[in-house]
Amino acid sequence: MTNAITAEGLVKRYGDMTALAGVDLEVPAGKVIGVLGPNGAGKTTMVRILGTLLRPDAGRATVYGHDVVKDPVRVRRLIGLTGQYASVDETLTGTENLILLGRLLNLTKRQAKARAGELLERFELTEAATRPIATFSGGMRRRLDLAASLVGSPKVLYLDEPTTGLDPHTRNELWQVVRDLVAGGATVLLTTQYLEEADQLADRITVIDKGRVVAEGRPGELKRRIGGQILQVRPTLPSDIDAVAGILAELTGHTPQRDENTGVLSVPAADQLLVSALVRRLDGAAIAADELGLRLPSLDEVFLALTNVTERKVA
Ligand SMILES: Nc1ncnc2c1ncn2[C@@H]1O[C@H](COP(=O)(O)OP(=O)(O)O)[C@@H](O)[C@H]1O
Ligand SMILES: [Mg+2]
Repeated sequence: MTNAITAEGLVKRYGDMTALAGVDLEVPAGKVIGVLGPNGAGKTTMVRILGTLLRPDAGRATVYGHDVVKDPVRVRRLIGLTGQYASVDETLTGTENLILLGRLLNLTKRQAKARAGELLERFELTEAATRPIATFSGGMRRRLDLAASLVGSPKVLYLDEPTTGLDPHTRNELWQVVRDLVAGGATVLLTTQYLEEADQLADRITVIDKGRVVAEGRPGELKRRIGGQILQVRPTLPSDIDAVAGILAELTGHTPQRDENTGVLSVPAADQLLVSALVRRLDGAAIAADELGLRLPSLDEVFLALTNVTERKVA
């Protein structure tokens, strides 16, 4: 299988600060890789190196076999990059921005205009196209930024935290755009702090923390890696929650987690027999449950286990 992106031992330092401490990466063509990590993990630094905007201090990276340091011009022809912050010109309209980019990419006037119209329609920006960007909402700007990165029909697209700060509706739209792009043969490297996003979109996930890869795999594999399943139960009557928590603690030796909003108790489940044991005990105590079952840990739980981050900004 052809690799669209490779990185070997990427290192980047800013003074004493080591932003990347030797990162390896392999992204097969046509796949979505999620680079997941908290603030300051090194995600943007990595994207900037892969996007030829920053030179690594050590290591090597390629896009479709072209070295990002030795052959940046060839690499730039293959990639599109959407930054964490919109990189379009405030004073120009949506149409003008996209035409300008098309002209910079050597499209003819006619081609640039056609491409701009196509992209504006695809991102539902046609009506706003004649207004200066300064008047756009956050979601519109993000869509325009993504449209801008697609003017050159890139084979490889880097999306650096594309949905940070977006409302759920706009975020879902962006997810759909990413799926469409991949269906059309593009390779996408997406950085995110949101586990759900990586889970939704990525074929593989690389978890980075403090400039190092701390885990790599398919979303399901990562969830299994921290071992075991989670038993989840929701008593029908909220007044039974203490009794159920007591039974769970007795059966598993763990104090269950309580979700006060949903009334759900969860606890690590070492073996499958736990479910039937719990059902018998609840029956004996005449306690009814609306919900009872095993699940894999959420990516949030995996992420916390992998990075040992005890405090994290909640999205
Ligand atoms: N230009 C810079 N000068 C000094 N330190 C930087 C610079 N850019 C990033 N850093 C530091 O490098 C680390 C990684 O940053 P970054 O790649 O932006 O992480 P992320 O995108 O995952 O939040 C952070 O500690 C950040 O403060
Ligand atoms: Mg960043």
